[in-house]
Amino acid sequence: MKIKNDKPAAMKTRSFMKYRSFIAGHYDGMAGALTGFTGLVTGHEVLAGRLIRPERFDVRGCKQILDAGCGNGRYTKYLLRHADPGATLTTFDLSPAMLKRARNHLKSDRVSHAVADLTCLPYADGCFDAIVCGWVLEHLPDPSLGLCELARVLAPAGRLLLMTTENTFLGKMCGRLWHCRTYQRDDLRSTSSRCGLRWARELWFTDFHRVMRMGGIVVELHREGAVNG
Ligand SMILES: C[S@@+](CC[C@H](N)C(=O)[O-])C[C@H]1O[C@@H](n2cnc3c(N)ncnc32)[C@H](O)[C@@H]1O
Repeated sequence: MKIKNDKPAAMKTRSFMKYRSFIAGHYDGMAGALTGFTGLVTGHEVLAGRLIRPERFDVRGCKQILDAGCGNGRYTKYLLRHADPGATLTTFDLSPAMLKRARNHLKSDRVSHAVADLTCLPYADGCFDAIVCGWVLEHLPDPSLGLCELARVLAPAGRLLLMTTENTFLGKMCGRLWHCRTYQRDDLRSTSSRCGLRWARELWFTDFHRVMRMGGIVVELHREGAVNG
């Protein structure tokens, strides 16, 4: 099936390698520095905490947890809050400056940080019990490049919380601002399945977001064939 998408000029006019360098520079610079501020203004800083908690995306009992494309560590903060004391937290990002911001934000020696690319992860197969990947997949021209890597490093009974920009009016506006593409929900569901990931449940930040169908695609995925729900 052909993926219907809306790609920004920055992605359409460059090879993936050149786009990736452009995006790393974008987040290394002012745009990345502003994410702390924009997260507060848009409420995303607080909304992150509504998803990562025991009643929603539950990381209790997980030993190895990954924040993929962690940015300034907004989601890692909540992972740290709810993870078991013995859990190991790993984060990576394409942008070294974002990782520095995450380190300064989190101030925790429980978290390890690495520069890495979502399409080529430096981790062993099946090594993470829980993965959060927030607003990164829209920076790939082909979602299967990231989804198949996430499926590879996810443990057979592991769970993945994926957040990505939807192909709506607001989503497209965000895409223009952040030079990222958008996704059709059904197409992304099929691509996930082809990568071995099953949509276990769709989540919404609040009831308002659910009714208005706002806030992007937020979904918990499990490995196909896994028995964890
Ligand atoms: C919108 S920010 C989201 C950050 C964080 N996940 C959050 O929700 O606050 C997107 C992040 O993805 C990173 N990124 C973009 N493309 C990437 C790739 N191919 N591999 C790893 N990280 C990438 C950027 O550097 C940036 O920090």
